[in-house]
Amino acid sequence: MQTIFERLGETNLTLLVHNFYDLVFADPQISRLFKTDKELIKEKQRLFLTQFFGGPQLYSRQYGHPQLRARHLPHPIGDDDAVAWLSCMSRALASLPVEESLKDEIFKKLVPTAMFMVNRGDGNE
Ligand code: HEM
Repeated sequence: MQTIFERLGETNLTLLVHNFYDLVFADPQISRLFKTDKELIKEKQRLFLTQFFGGPQLYSRQYGHPQLRARHLPHPIGDDDAVAWLSCMSRALASLPVEESLKDEIFKKLVPTAMFMVNRGDGNE
């Protein structure tokens, strides 16, 4: 069975990341968390998702072990932020010219990872 990366294709992955961060940087809930260059975070996420979806280990080659939860610790992320992140992802996926079943598969793979990034409890900000 082909990987998600192979089925999605590089062009659609790039489009997904592009549309996703346009939504994130305009999102009333989570845009405040993003303080660095939009193009840089897009590129990092493109490298990361390439390997997350079963493609070459592009992120690790350039930046080392992802340790995503640790890399997110400087950013206070609550449940509501994870939900907003996933909502941006869902809308970015909806814009892609690929099968609905592939969009569903990608979204389902990202849900637990997004929830794992939550690093502050409500009332604990
Ligand atoms: C749960 C909600 C999430 C929030 C609010 C969030 C927020 C952030 C923020 C604020 C940054 C730093 C951006 C900057 O440098 O300005 C970041 C970096 C990053 N995020 Fe997330 N994130 C979330 C979930 C995820 C998930 C689920 C993934 C992967 C599937 C992910 C992958 C990354 C990557 C690869 C980076 C770059 C790390 C680096 O500096 O090398 N994030 N995220």
